[in-house]
Amino acid sequence: MSATQTNKIDITKAATSKINEVDFEKLSFGAVFTDHMLECDFTNGEWQTPVIKPYAPFLADPSMRVFHYGQAIFEGMKAYKDDNSDIWLFRPDENYNRFNKSAVRMAMPEVPENVFMDGLSQLLKIDQEWVKKGKGNAMYIRPFMIATGTGVIANPSDDYKFMIILSPVTSYYSGDVKVVIAEHFSRAANGGIGAAKAAGNYAAQFYPTTLANKEGFQQVIWTDDATHTKLEEAGTMNVFFRINDTLLTAPTSERILDGVTRKTLIDLAKSEGINVEVRSVLVSELVEAAENGSLKEIFGAGTAAVISPISGFSYKETYHELPKIENAMATQLKDKLTNIQNKLAEDTFGWTVKI
Ligand code: COI
Repeated sequence: MSATQTNKIDITKAATSKINEVDFEKLSFGAVFTDHMLECDFTNGEWQTPVIKPYAPFLADPSMRVFHYGQAIFEGMKAYKDDNSDIWLFRPDENYNRFNKSAVRMAMPEVPENVFMDGLSQLLKIDQEWVKKGKGNAMYIRPFMIATGTGVIANPSDDYKFMIILSPVTSYYSGDVKVVIAEHFSRAANGGIGAAKAAGNYAAQFYPTTLANKEGFQQVIWTDDATHTKLEEAGTMNVFFRINDTLLTAPTSERILDGVTRKTLIDLAKSEGINVEVRSVLVSELVEAAENGSLKEIFGAGTAAVISPISGFSYKETYHELPKIENAMATQLKDKLTNIQNKLAEDTFGWTVKI
């Protein structure tokens, strides 16, 4: 199904703003939403006129397919406000393209570029007061699509709802991130939906991640489902390993999400002269490197998580604490990345887009 174009957006503004009720110094990630949201329905085989309206709950029929068969996809993006109060998106085309790839994999209609991009720009302009200046502040953008067709027959829905909601955020993780390496559970398998940003990929991780949380770990690093010998990604982020001065990360595959921060960091690190190897990283290699001292850093990379250093990992009941190091690559790369995103450094890559 191809994405058709609609040019108009119907806008209804909220009578009052909730912004004064929000303590921007104490935001917990993704918990507060702005005054408006975008909604666009797919009915009778076509996308209807997108609507921007006050953020509010909506009525849902109990037999909607999303509730029964999980046809739901989403994206995670961020917008930043610079010192001139201009608002910038970071590589939005990557998110748009990935969203439609996810849609195809989940038998959902692709969303037209102008609904996604113009809708997002308009929404951000309307709620621009909510985008705070300063490094560390960002507007987290959550575009998503659900199957709204009714009836519990196990077929793809005919009707869908595409929405964008906005949440002002600071950091995703506070404090140390410790991980456990998966030995039994899997996030994805070849031929499955691991490369799609499908809601079910996240739901499937909740149980094993909760078990890990009870043991004091924040995340699981998933391994390949067939052998559990290759390190793949963590549930909320892709993962990088620094062995001596080389940065390693797994190649994308049917099982791994093609993360925007991941691909950005690969380019950024290379441009800084860092040796980057995109290849399968074995669990045995990581354990050996931790034991012989060549493992210097592990960090996660994602839109929400930005770059999150991992302080240690557990595998087969043994916890390997990483050494504290000066001039960590994670810190240096995070600085470079966030300076570009916040327009504090020149964007020689052309990644930032003004709305
Ligand atoms: C993101 O980084 O934007 C994600 O989608 C991860 C999410 C689970 C918070």
